[in-house]
Amino acid sequence: MRVLSVVGLQWGDEGKGKVLDRLSEDVDLVVRYQGGNNAGHTVIVGTEKYALHHIPSGILRDTGRCLIANGSVVDPDALVTEIAGLEDRGVRVRDRLFVSDRAHLILPSHVALDRANEKAAGSGSIGTTGRGIGPCYADKASRIGVRVGDLRHPDGLVDRIARHLEVKNHLFTTLYDMPAFDAASIAEGLLAHREILGPMIADTSRMVHDSIERGETILLEGSQGVLLDIDLGTYPYVTSSNSSACGISAGTGIPPACVEDVIGVMKAYVTRVGEGPFPTELHGEEGDALRDRGGEYGTTTGRPRRCGWLDLVAARYAIRVSGIRRVALTKLDVLCGADPIQVCTGYRIGDETTTEFPSHVSDLESIEPVYESFDGFDEDITGAKRFDDLPKNARRYIEALEERLGIRLFMISVGSERDQTILRES
Ligand code: IMP
Repeated sequence: MRVLSVVGLQWGDEGKGKVLDRLSEDVDLVVRYQGGNNAGHTVIVGTEKYALHHIPSGILRDTGRCLIANGSVVDPDALVTEIAGLEDRGVRVRDRLFVSDRAHLILPSHVALDRANEKAAGSGSIGTTGRGIGPCYADKASRIGVRVGDLRHPDGLVDRIARHLEVKNHLFTTLYDMPAFDAASIAEGLLAHREILGPMIADTSRMVHDSIERGETILLEGSQGVLLDIDLGTYPYVTSSNSSACGISAGTGIPPACVEDVIGVMKAYVTRVGEGPFPTELHGEEGDALRDRGGEYGTTTGRPRRCGWLDLVAARYAIRVSGIRRVALTKLDVLCGADPIQVCTGYRIGDETTTEFPSHVSDLESIEPVYESFDGFDEDITGAKRFDDLPKNARRYIEALEERLGIRLFMISVGSERDQTILRES
C-alpha cells in the first residue's frame, strides 16, 4: 500500500498536471480533496492537450478510479460539461469517476456573488477566478450550503436552496442591482444532472479506506498551491480551501498518518494570477520574456500570469508546512537563454534581512528580495533524458537549489510532453 500526495509549492500553476499524470501510472485511486473548477491542470498526451478542472488527471490513464472527495466544491454544470468533453475525445469517465456525497455544490448564485463581490471591491479585489469558490466555501462554514448528497433528497432541496438565498437575494437586489435567484429553478437545474451524476455519488471516504485496506496505491491530487492556502497562504489574497498538504485529512476523511509521502511541485521560476504580494515579480521585458517562453496564461481564465524569479524563502516555508519529502522541478527548459538566472535567498524588510516567510500582507508587500545569481545556459535541453544530459550550468543550478533547500529534486521536467521528464529515482 502506498498513499502519496502531490502539492504545489507556489501560487498554483506549478505544472502539477504533468507530474500527477506521470505519477498516476499504475495507481489504483486518484483523489482530489479541495478546490473546485478554479483549478486548471494541463496534461499533454502525445499530440492531445487536455485542460482538466474538476476531474483528477488520473482519468487520462486507462485504468484506476478517480474521486472528487468531500473537501472539494463542485459546479455540476461545469462537471457535466467536462465529462462530456472527455468522453467525446474517447476518455472513459462514467464508471471510473466518483463524487463525494459530502462535497458542496457551487450554485449559479455563488458564481454571481463571486463576480459581483469582485466588481464591487474595485482596486481591492482578490482577482478570483470568478467560479463561485469563495461564496460556496463561505456557505459551507455558515452551515447553509447545499451538498452533492442533497441531490438524493429532492424533497428538501428547494428549502435548502431558499435558505442559502435568504440573505444573498437581498444583497443582489438592494446592493448589487441584480435580479434575485429563484430556489425552485436552481433546484430544477441541479436535478437535471441527476441522470449523469447520480450513479457517481458515493461515500468517497469509505472508498479511500477500503482501497487502503486492500493495499492499493493512492495518489492525492492537490490543487492551487501552498501560498494560496486559506490558513497558510498570503491572506487575504488566497483561495478559500486548504491547498497545502494540511487539507488532505479533512478533505478526504483519511487520518494524517496514512499519508506516507508528500511530493512538492515547484516551477523553476514563479508565477501568480490574480492580485496579492509577489516579492520576486519581474516587471517589464524580463517578465514578458518568461511569460512568452513559458506560455504563462491561465488554464481556467486565460489571464496572463505575473512572472518572477524563483523564491527560496517562500519555497522553504511551503516545504516546511506541508512536510514535503521530495520535490519535482518543472519547466526548467523555460529558463534556457536567461542569463544570469536569479534566485531569491532572503528578504530585506526595512533594516532587517530574514529567511522566514512573513504572515502579514504589508510585510510581504514591502520586501526587497536578496538575490543570488547563477550563470545561465542556452543549450536546448528539451531532449534530455538523464541528469547528466543537462548542460553544466543547468546541473549547477539544480544542485544549488537542492543544497539551499536541503531537499532532493527527484524529477525534472524539461518540456510539456509526458516523456520530457528526467527521473532521478524510480
Ligand atoms: P478563487 O480560488 O477563484 O477564489 O481565487 C482566489 C485566488 O486564487 C485568485 O488569486 C486566483 O487567481 C487564485 N487561484 C485559484 N485557483 C487557482 C489555480 O488553479 N491556479 C492559480 N491561481 C489560482
